[in-house]
Amino acid sequence: MSVWAILVAAGRGERLGSDQPKAFAKLGELPLLAEPLRRLDDSEWIDAVVVVAPPGWEEPAILLAEEIGAGKVRASVPGGETRTDSVRAGLAEVPEDAAVVLVHDAARPLVTDAVVERVLAPLSEGWDGVVPGLPVSDTVKRVGSDGAVEETVSREGLWAVQTPQAFPVATLRRAVQSGADATDCSGLVAAAGGRVKVVPGDPLLLKITTAADLARVASLL
Ligand code: C5P
Repeated sequence: MSVWAILVAAGRGERLGSDQPKAFAKLGELPLLAEPLRRLDDSEWIDAVVVVAPPGWEEPAILLAEEIGAGKVRASVPGGETRTDSVRAGLAEVPEDAAVVLVHDAARPLVTDAVVERVLAPLSEGWDGVVPGLPVSDTVKRVGSDGAVEETVSREGLWAVQTPQAFPVATLRRAVQSGADATDCSGLVAAAGGRVKVVPGDPLLLKITTAADLARVASLL
């Protein structure tokens, strides 16, 4: 069974306040992209990797892969306007005979082999997708644009989901071709009628949005 990983790194990252796209902002000595790329490349569960780079940054992404010795990278392609467009571009590089695809946000650099294993394992039970998640522990409010609390939402059964997310390749292909949009791939698969399972995520799979997030993740390297 061959497992391909798509590393989506084409976000502009405007909230980071960097001149460069988020994937090429410095995390320690190297661009942020290097950390999740090295970790996916090192994973014993992953056979091949496709990088979805910010448009115009496909070549620097390949050079970075060479610099860190990420030998499983098969392609570096430009991303699209939305995350879903970027996933679609990455999937186009995954061959027909691949069985499973794992989609991971480059913005979550601290991916581990343990979480990769946790999302891959239940696919053999027939799930259409498996995602890592953490139960929401904060109290959740719906807030209006004027800052007024409109509702306290029960957190019973609420989970915050992360990446990497795993799917049978054909299932994700059908979901991205449906024309729907979502902020994660499991949303696309669920909208197409798929059954998605949540497994325990990892609190260290922090998503880098701001410069403070970047500093926090750098301190955890
Ligand atoms: O924008 P958001 O924080 O949801 O992005 C999550 C991941 O998706 C990031 O790794 C980002 O680089 C990627 N992305 C992308 N193409 C886009 C938007 C986001 O590859 N157009």
